[in-house]
Amino acid sequence: MNADAKKTVLRMIPYGIYVLTADDGQGNIAAATVNWVTQSAFAPPLVVAAVKADSGTYKTVKAAKTFALNMLGKDHKGLAFAFFRPADVSDGKLSGQPYRKGATGAPILSDAPGAVECKVTAVIEQGDHHIVVGEVVEAHLQKPPAGRPDTAILEMKDLGDNVFYGG
Ligand SMILES: Cc1cc2nc3c(=O)[nH]c(=O)nc-3n(C[C@H](O)[C@H](O)[C@H](O)COP(=O)(O)O)c2cc1C
Repeated sequence: MNADAKKTVLRMIPYGIYVLTADDGQGNIAAATVNWVTQSAFAPPLVVAAVKADSGTYKTVKAAKTFALNMLGKDHKGLAFAFFRPADVSDGKLSGQPYRKGATGAPILSDAPGAVECKVTAVIEQGDHHIVVGEVVEAHLQKPPAGRPDTAILEMKDLGDNVFYGG
């Protein structure tokens, strides 16, 4: 296989940008900007996210057995960059961002236009990122989109010409 071709072709997959959050109830709160996300079933409503197996976020999601996917809006580039690093909680904020606890305990970012909360139903342990399957158990629509919902989401291509996660 040609490594450059593999990289370029895989980078043709378009991605939205999300902040995945979890709280294990033992003092560990995780929040990470992720792009490897998709819905995978209507009934029950399932989503999948690929989470770096050696990350703090992965550990916390596994322990919490729940997580939230916070959708980032077009004007939330700063929020995306804030969660590329391990999150910290101080002054009641998550890496400087206001939030509240959702029904599952997972942090819901106040500035995110929408979020879903999920119960982990399976983890597929393959490769350096493991696929976390989540059943959507709660949805928060904080700012209804003006047009198609998928035009409201921040996309990988909005982050700059040299920002990729994939390839
Ligand atoms: C553009 C971009 C996209 C990312 N997408 C993912 C992803 O889909 N899954 C993931 O586990 N990490 C992803 N990351 C890495 C996480 O943002 C990063 O590992 C995490 O925030 C670090 O915190 P942690 O070690 O506490 O988990 C991405 C990073 C960048 C720069």
